[in-house]
Amino acid sequence: MAEDEKITEACRLLEEAKNVVVFTGAGISAESGIPTFRGKDGMWEKYRAEDLATPYAFENDPKKVWEWYDWRRQKIQEGGPNPAHLTIAKMEKNFPNFSVITQNVDGLHRKAGSKNIIELHGNIWRVRCLEEQKIFEFLEVPLSEIPPKCKCGSLIRPDVVWFGEAMPQKEISQAFLLSEECDSMLVVGTSVLVQPAASLPFSAKTNGASIIEINLAATPVSSIANVSIFGKAGEILPEIFQRLEQCLSDGM
Ligand code: OAD
Repeated sequence: MAEDEKITEACRLLEEAKNVVVFTGAGISAESGIPTFRGKDGMWEKYRAEDLATPYAFENDPKKVWEWYDWRRQKIQEGGPNPAHLTIAKMEKNFPNFSVITQNVDGLHRKAGSKNIIELHGNIWRVRCLEEQKIFEFLEVPLSEIPPKCKCGSLIRPDVVWFGEAMPQKEISQAFLLSEECDSMLVVGTSVLVQPAASLPFSAKTNGASIIEINLAATPVSSIANVSIFGKAGEILPEIFQRLEQCLSDGM
């Protein structure tokens, strides 16, 4: 199928849908200048996850871990939401039920204006005090002190899910429920390799949803997708939205 036909097909599937889930990964933020994890320029090519994104790494060297998070927070703030995030936020009003399930910790869906967001891997703008276990927003960027401390004097850590840690139970249950109930799922900018999040599109498909994939390259989801559109999310999503708005206003 040519790209234009694929976009037409994606719009047709979305027009039929009342419950829509958008499932996103690092690729959606790539055009904001935030590196993805895998692939040629991916962060896991340059850094070892074991040194930066595990409870052991933090215990061993909180300064090193926080330097990496401070750098990522600066990149996110500089980049801000891109046309892909902004389009998803605009799409919300076209459907009775519309949710975003993201593996990203950058908070850019919220910044773009999306309302129903499930963050499966936490949020880089939230921290947890190691002593009191309280969780709070922490927006200082760049950090004035590394590693930063809580008012109580104890270390704080980013409120994100590290390797070897459990996913937030409420979020993962909600994500599976939404995936089982949706009519259509857009899978955007994820390599669909990290479980349990990687099971969500398969769960949606098994329960009858159509799958529309947007990625630079094929992923494990491509084999079950109704349509896989290969290209940049920041270019393809606005095209789909423009076409969708046109169809809806024509009453087609
Ligand atoms: P990955 O880095 O594994 O995959 C990014 C995907 O985005 C790839 O499939 C790219 O082809 C695609 N991509 C890149 N640029 C794109 C663009 N402009 N438009 C569309 N697609 C693009 O990121 P995730 O799948 O999110 O977990 O990785 C999942 C988890 O693995 C992350 O949440 C993180 C990581 O280790 C934790 O930190 C727990």
